[in-house]
Amino acid sequence: MKLILCGKGGCGKSTLATLLARSYAEEGKQVLVVDSDESNFGLHRQLGLDLPEDFTHYFGHKKGIYEDGAADVFEGGWHLSDIPEEYSSKEGNIRLMAIGKIHDAGEGCACAMGSLNRIFLEHLVLEENDVCIVDTEAGVEHFGRGIDRYADAILMVADPSYESIMLTEKISGMAEDFGKPVFIVLNKVDADQEAMMRETIGNSDKIIAALPADKGILAAGLKGEALTAELPAIETIKKALAK
Ligand SMILES: Nc1ncnc2c1ncn2[C@@H]1O[C@H](COP(=O)(O)OP(=O)(O)OP(=O)(O)O)[C@@H](O)[C@H]1O
Ligand SMILES: [Mg+2]
Repeated sequence: MKLILCGKGGCGKSTLATLLARSYAEEGKQVLVVDSDESNFGLHRQLGLDLPEDFTHYFGHKKGIYEDGAADVFEGGWHLSDIPEEYSSKEGNIRLMAIGKIHDAGEGCACAMGSLNRIFLEHLVLEENDVCIVDTEAGVEHFGRGIDRYADAILMVADPSYESIMLTEKISGMAEDFGKPVFIVLNKVDADQEAMMRETIGNSDKIIAALPADKGILAAGLKGEALTAELPAIETIKKALAK
Protein backbone atom coordinates (compact mmCIF):
# COMPACT_ATOMS: atom_id res chain seq x y z
CA MET A 1 0.00 0.00 0.00
CA LYS A 2 1.18 3.48 -0.88
CA LEU A 3 -0.34 5.98 1.53
CA ILE A 4 -0.03 9.76 1.21
CA LEU A 5 -0.61 11.91 4.27
CA CYS A 6 -1.74 15.46 3.73
CA GLY A 7 -3.34 18.44 5.42
CA LYS A 8 -2.68 22.00 6.47
CA GLY A 9 0.49 23.13 8.21
CA GLY A 10 0.95 21.77 11.70
CA CYS A 11 -2.15 19.53 11.65
CA GLY A 12 -0.12 16.43 12.55
CA LYS A 13 0.89 14.81 9.23
CA SER A 14 4.39 13.87 10.39
CA THR A 15 3.11 12.71 13.77
CA LEU A 16 0.56 10.40 12.13
CA ALA A 17 3.15 9.21 9.61
CA THR A 18 5.42 8.25 12.51
CA LEU A 19 2.76 6.54 14.61
CA LEU A 20 1.48 4.57 11.63
CA ALA A 21 4.99 3.60 10.55
CA ARG A 22 5.80 2.29 14.03
CA SER A 23 2.60 0.37 14.26
CA TYR A 24 2.96 -1.27 10.83
CA ALA A 25 6.61 -2.09 11.62
CA GLU A 26 5.64 -3.72 14.92
CA GLU A 27 3.15 -5.81 13.00
CA GLY A 28 6.02 -7.11 10.88
CA LYS A 29 5.51 -4.99 7.75
CA GLN A 30 8.46 -3.54 5.89
CA VAL A 31 7.81 0.18 6.08
CA LEU A 32 9.23 2.85 3.80
CA VAL A 33 8.62 6.39 5.04
CA VAL A 34 9.16 9.02 2.36
CA ASP A 35 9.83 12.50 3.69
CA SER A 36 8.74 14.70 0.83
CA ASP A 37 8.55 17.94 2.82
CA GLU A 38 11.32 20.16 1.48
CA SER A 39 11.09 22.65 4.35
CA ASN A 40 10.64 20.86 7.67
CA PHE A 41 13.27 18.75 9.38
CA GLY A 42 11.18 17.11 12.10
CA LEU A 43 10.09 13.73 10.74
CA HIS A 44 13.38 11.88 11.21
CA ARG A 45 13.50 13.00 14.83
CA GLN A 46 9.95 11.84 15.44
CA LEU A 47 10.97 8.47 14.01
CA GLY A 48 14.18 8.44 16.05
CA LEU A 49 16.28 8.08 12.88
CA ASP A 50 19.12 10.07 11.31
CA LEU A 51 18.19 12.45 8.51
CA PRO A 52 19.16 10.63 5.31
CA GLU A 53 21.03 12.36 2.55
CA ASP A 54 18.75 14.07 0.03
CA PHE A 55 17.68 11.57 -2.61
CA THR A 56 18.01 14.38 -5.16
CA HIS A 57 21.80 14.09 -4.68
CA TYR A 58 21.65 10.59 -6.16
CA PHE A 59 20.98 12.38 -9.44
CA GLY A 60 23.85 14.81 -8.99
CA HIS A 61 21.94 17.83 -7.79
CA LYS A 62 18.29 18.72 -7.60
CA LYS A 63 18.71 21.23 -10.39
CA GLY A 64 19.96 18.42 -12.57
CA ILE A 65 16.80 16.36 -12.34
CA TYR A 66 14.75 16.28 -15.46
CA GLU A 67 11.73 14.08 -15.55
CA ASP A 68 12.81 11.83 -18.39
CA GLY A 69 16.33 11.44 -17.03
CA ALA A 70 15.11 10.42 -13.59
CA ALA A 71 12.46 8.13 -15.04
CA ASP A 72 15.17 6.23 -16.93
CA VAL A 73 16.88 5.41 -13.65
CA PHE A 74 13.72 3.79 -12.30
CA GLU A 75 12.91 1.89 -15.46
CA GLY A 76 11.61 -1.59 -14.70
CA GLY A 77 10.50 -0.45 -11.26
CA TRP A 78 12.29 -0.15 -7.92
CA HIS A 79 11.66 -2.47 -5.01
CA LEU A 80 12.49 -1.46 -1.45
CA SER A 81 15.75 -3.38 -1.79
CA ASP A 82 16.76 -1.16 -4.74
CA ILE A 83 16.84 1.98 -2.62
CA PRO A 84 20.52 2.83 -2.10
CA GLU A 85 21.55 2.50 1.54
CA GLU A 86 23.40 5.84 1.45
CA TYR A 87 20.07 7.58 0.82
CA SER A 88 18.07 6.05 3.62
CA SER A 89 18.29 5.49 7.32
CA LYS A 90 16.92 2.31 8.77
CA GLU A 91 16.10 0.78 12.09
CA GLY A 92 14.22 -2.47 12.42
CA ASN A 93 11.48 -2.60 9.83
CA ILE A 94 11.39 1.14 9.17
CA ARG A 95 13.37 2.76 6.42
CA LEU A 96 13.29 6.55 5.91
CA MET A 97 14.09 8.42 2.73
CA ALA A 98 14.16 12.19 2.27
CA ILE A 99 13.41 13.36 -1.25
CA GLY A 100 15.24 16.62 -0.68
CA LYS A 101 15.43 19.69 1.53
CA ILE A 102 16.01 23.35 0.90
CA HIS A 103 19.34 23.94 2.67
CA ASP A 104 20.64 27.26 1.42
CA ALA A 105 19.24 30.69 0.70
CA GLY A 106 18.92 31.27 -3.02
CA GLU A 107 19.43 27.62 -3.99
CA GLY A 108 16.30 27.53 -6.14
CA CYS A 109 12.79 26.16 -6.01
CA ALA A 110 11.55 22.74 -4.93
CA CYS A 111 10.18 21.72 -8.34
CA ALA A 112 12.83 19.08 -8.95
CA MET A 113 11.98 17.48 -5.62
CA GLY A 114 8.31 17.33 -6.47
CA SER A 115 9.10 15.77 -9.84
CA LEU A 116 11.41 13.22 -8.28
CA ASN A 117 8.84 12.33 -5.65
CA ARG A 118 6.24 11.70 -8.33
CA ILE A 119 8.51 9.62 -10.55
CA PHE A 120 9.77 7.61 -7.59
CA LEU A 121 6.27 6.80 -6.34
CA GLU A 122 5.15 5.92 -9.83
CA HIS A 123 7.97 3.39 -10.21
CA LEU A 124 8.02 2.05 -6.65
CA VAL A 125 7.00 -1.61 -6.62
CA LEU A 126 5.71 -2.89 -3.29
CA GLU A 127 5.40 -6.49 -2.19
CA GLU A 128 2.46 -7.79 -0.19
CA ASN A 129 4.19 -7.12 3.14
CA ASP A 130 5.43 -3.60 2.23
CA VAL A 131 3.89 -0.31 3.23
CA CYS A 132 4.98 3.08 1.91
CA ILE A 133 3.96 6.16 3.88
CA VAL A 134 4.55 9.52 2.22
CA ASP A 135 4.67 12.55 4.48
CA THR A 136 3.98 15.67 2.44
CA GLU A 137 4.50 19.39 2.80
CA ALA A 138 1.52 21.43 4.02
CA GLY A 139 -1.19 22.20 1.50
CA VAL A 140 -2.12 20.77 -1.87
CA GLU A 141 0.86 21.34 -4.13
CA HIS A 142 1.46 17.59 -4.36
CA PHE A 143 -2.01 17.23 -5.85
CA GLY A 144 -1.19 19.93 -8.39
CA ARG A 145 1.94 18.00 -9.33
CA GLY A 146 -0.03 14.79 -9.76
CA ILE A 147 1.93 12.94 -7.07
CA ASP A 148 -1.25 11.60 -5.45
CA ARG A 149 -2.11 9.85 -8.68
CA TYR A 150 0.37 7.16 -7.60
CA ALA A 151 -1.05 6.57 -4.12
CA ASP A 152 -3.45 3.80 -3.18
CA ALA A 153 -5.08 5.97 -0.53
CA ILE A 154 -4.98 9.54 0.74
CA LEU A 155 -5.05 10.15 4.47
CA MET A 156 -6.00 13.69 5.33
CA VAL A 157 -5.23 14.95 8.82
CA ALA A 158 -7.55 17.70 10.09
CA ASP A 159 -6.89 19.67 13.25
CA PRO A 160 -9.66 21.70 14.88
CA SER A 161 -9.54 24.76 12.62
CA TYR A 162 -11.77 26.33 10.00
CA GLU A 163 -8.96 26.00 7.46
CA SER A 164 -8.81 22.23 7.97
CA ILE A 165 -12.58 21.96 7.62
CA MET A 166 -12.42 23.84 4.30
CA LEU A 167 -9.49 21.75 3.15
CA THR A 168 -11.35 18.47 3.66
CA GLU A 169 -13.63 19.37 0.77
CA LYS A 170 -10.83 20.50 -1.50
CA ILE A 171 -8.69 17.44 -0.84
CA SER A 172 -11.62 15.05 -1.18
CA GLY A 173 -12.44 16.59 -4.57
CA MET A 174 -8.85 16.37 -5.77
CA ALA A 175 -8.49 12.77 -4.58
CA GLU A 176 -11.71 11.94 -6.39
CA ASP A 177 -10.30 13.49 -9.58
CA PHE A 178 -7.51 10.89 -9.36
CA GLY A 179 -9.96 8.14 -8.42
CA LYS A 180 -8.27 7.67 -5.03
CA PRO A 181 -10.04 6.92 -1.76
CA VAL A 182 -9.66 9.60 0.89
CA PHE A 183 -9.79 9.05 4.63
CA ILE A 184 -9.97 11.83 7.19
CA VAL A 185 -8.37 11.67 10.63
CA LEU A 186 -9.26 14.37 13.13
CA ASN A 187 -6.26 15.25 15.26
CA LYS A 188 -5.78 17.16 18.52
CA VAL A 189 -9.53 17.23 19.14
CA ASP A 190 -11.59 16.97 22.31
CA ALA A 191 -15.10 15.51 22.31
CA ASP A 192 -16.83 18.85 21.59
CA GLN A 193 -14.49 19.73 18.75
CA GLU A 194 -14.87 16.27 17.27
CA ALA A 195 -18.68 16.54 17.36
CA MET A 196 -18.57 19.99 15.79
CA MET A 197 -16.23 18.84 13.02
CA ARG A 198 -18.29 15.73 12.30
CA GLU A 199 -21.31 18.01 11.92
CA THR A 200 -19.57 20.61 9.78
CA ILE A 201 -17.46 18.53 7.44
CA GLY A 202 -19.54 17.78 4.36
CA ASN A 203 -18.14 14.32 3.77
CA SER A 204 -18.00 13.29 7.41
CA ASP A 205 -18.51 9.66 6.41
CA LYS A 206 -14.83 9.75 5.45
CA ILE A 207 -13.76 10.44 9.04
CA ILE A 208 -12.22 7.20 10.28
CA ALA A 209 -10.70 8.24 13.59
CA ALA A 210 -10.18 11.08 16.02
CA LEU A 211 -7.02 11.54 18.05
CA PRO A 212 -6.94 13.60 21.23
CA ALA A 213 -4.35 16.23 22.01
CA ASP A 214 -1.85 14.03 23.79
CA LYS A 215 0.55 15.45 26.38
CA GLY A 216 3.21 12.86 25.58
CA ILE A 217 3.18 13.72 21.85
CA LEU A 218 3.31 17.43 22.63
CA ALA A 219 6.22 17.00 25.05
CA ALA A 220 8.19 14.83 22.58
CA GLY A 221 7.53 17.42 19.84
CA LEU A 222 8.77 20.22 22.06
CA LYS A 223 11.98 18.39 22.96
CA GLY A 224 12.60 17.03 19.46
CA GLU A 225 12.44 13.49 20.77
CA ALA A 226 11.26 10.28 19.11
CA LEU A 227 7.56 9.50 19.46
CA THR A 228 6.72 6.54 21.59
CA ALA A 229 3.01 7.21 22.13
CA GLU A 230 0.65 4.32 21.56
CA LEU A 231 -2.82 5.52 20.72
CA PRO A 232 -5.74 3.12 20.17
CA ALA A 233 -6.89 5.29 17.26
CA ILE A 234 -3.90 4.09 15.21
CA GLU A 235 -5.34 0.56 15.10
CA THR A 236 -8.70 2.03 14.06
CA ILE A 237 -7.01 3.89 11.20
CA LYS A 238 -5.17 0.75 10.06
CA LYS A 239 -8.37 -1.27 10.08
CA ALA A 240 -10.17 1.33 7.98
CA LEU A 241 -7.28 1.43 5.50
CA ALA A 242 -7.14 -2.35 5.30
CA LYS A 243 -10.72 -2.40 4.07
N1 LIG B 1 -2.35 14.35 18.78
C1 LIG B 1 -1.46 15.25 19.15
N2 LIG B 1 -1.36 15.65 20.45
C2 LIG B 1 -0.47 16.58 20.83
N3 LIG B 1 0.38 17.21 20.01
C3 LIG B 1 0.34 16.88 18.71
C4 LIG B 1 -0.56 15.88 18.21
N4 LIG B 1 -0.35 15.77 16.88
C5 LIG B 1 0.62 16.63 16.57
N5 LIG B 1 1.04 17.30 17.66
C6 LIG B 1 2.06 18.35 17.73
O1 LIG B 1 1.72 19.36 16.81
C7 LIG B 1 2.88 19.86 16.17
C8 LIG B 1 2.74 19.68 14.66
O2 LIG B 1 2.72 18.29 14.39
P1 LIG B 1 3.39 17.73 13.07
O3 LIG B 1 4.76 18.20 12.93
O4 LIG B 1 3.11 16.27 13.06
O5 LIG B 1 2.45 18.44 12.01
P2 LIG B 1 2.66 18.54 10.44
O6 LIG B 1 1.30 18.55 9.85
O7 LIG B 1 3.60 17.50 9.98
O8 LIG B 1 3.33 19.96 10.31
P3 LIG B 1 4.06 20.59 9.01
O9 LIG B 1 2.96 21.06 8.12
O10 LIG B 1 4.82 21.74 9.60
O11 LIG B 1 4.89 19.53 8.40
C9 LIG B 1 4.06 19.11 16.75
O12 LIG B 1 4.61 19.88 17.77
C10 LIG B 1 3.43 17.84 17.30
O13 LIG B 1 4.16 17.34 18.40
MG1 LIG C 1 5.36 17.62 8.85
